[in-house]
Amino acid sequence: MLFWIIVTIIILLAIGLIVYWQLILAEGAYLGAPLVALLYDWTAERYNKIKEFEWEAEDFWVGEPLAERLRHEPGAMVLDVATGTGRIPLTLLRQPSFRGRVIGLDRASKMLAVARCDVINCDQQVSLIQADAMALPFASDSFPVVTCMEALEFLPNPTAGLAELIRVLQPASEAHPQRGWLLTTQRIGWEARLMPGKTWQTEQLFEILSRFPLQYVEIQIWQDIYNLVWAQKVRP
Ligand SMILES: C[S@@+](CC[C@H](N)C(=O)[O-])C[C@H]1O[C@@H](n2cnc3c(N)ncnc32)[C@H](O)[C@@H]1O
Repeated sequence: MLFWIIVTIIILLAIGLIVYWQLILAEGAYLGAPLVALLYDWTAERYNKIKEFEWEAEDFWVGEPLAERLRHEPGAMVLDVATGTGRIPLTLLRQPSFRGRVIGLDRASKMLAVARCDVINCDQQVSLIQADAMALPFASDSFPVVTCMEALEFLPNPTAGLAELIRVLQPASEAHPQRGWLLTTQRIGWEARLMPGKTWQTEQLFEILSRFPLQYVEIQIWQDIYNLVWAQKVRP
């Protein structure tokens, strides 16, 4: 009898751990894009509070470097994939030199609804659309800057997702040397090790990036659980 009680407890513990791993740590990443979006819809109202965004830090690490790269094209159109509650549109709107437009794309409608509340007075500059990052509804070489923050590891195939970001990026050219900038993130830390096949070690990420027509690839230390990844697309 005692044997079966112990076996039952072990089985229940194992199931609990698997559920915690899949739903909390991996945020549904192995269970398909619809579930990931559903989980983000459930947390959308609390997302900004959970993340504790500090706008000065956001501007320093992300907004200002993006605006600097766009200084010769202040009217440029930026695509932010997996925009969530609008982190990238909001930091760009705070940059005095930025007079362009941002398209924020996400699969989770409630994340977009939270973003919409914050950019409500800026609809001339920000468009929010619901779509999937794995099949961006844009032609190749469309945007001078593409961003995708803290999201690649939640996609069904992160490498294919990265390729999709690069596909819609306009390459730098002699006439437009400032175009072609990609800003994304690398998941790091102990949780990254619990997401095999979804996250990359730094060497592996450099190797994957080397398969694409990119220059100036830089992996920059940023937060405990994410590095920033910068690169510029060139013509193959
Ligand atoms: C951790 S949040 C990051 C949001 C925002 N980029 C930020 O840095 O705050 C991940 C976002 O990716 C979105 N996402 C996950 N899978 C997606 C997919 N297949 N297509 C589009 N968006 C997706 C989620 O809905 C969520 O808003």
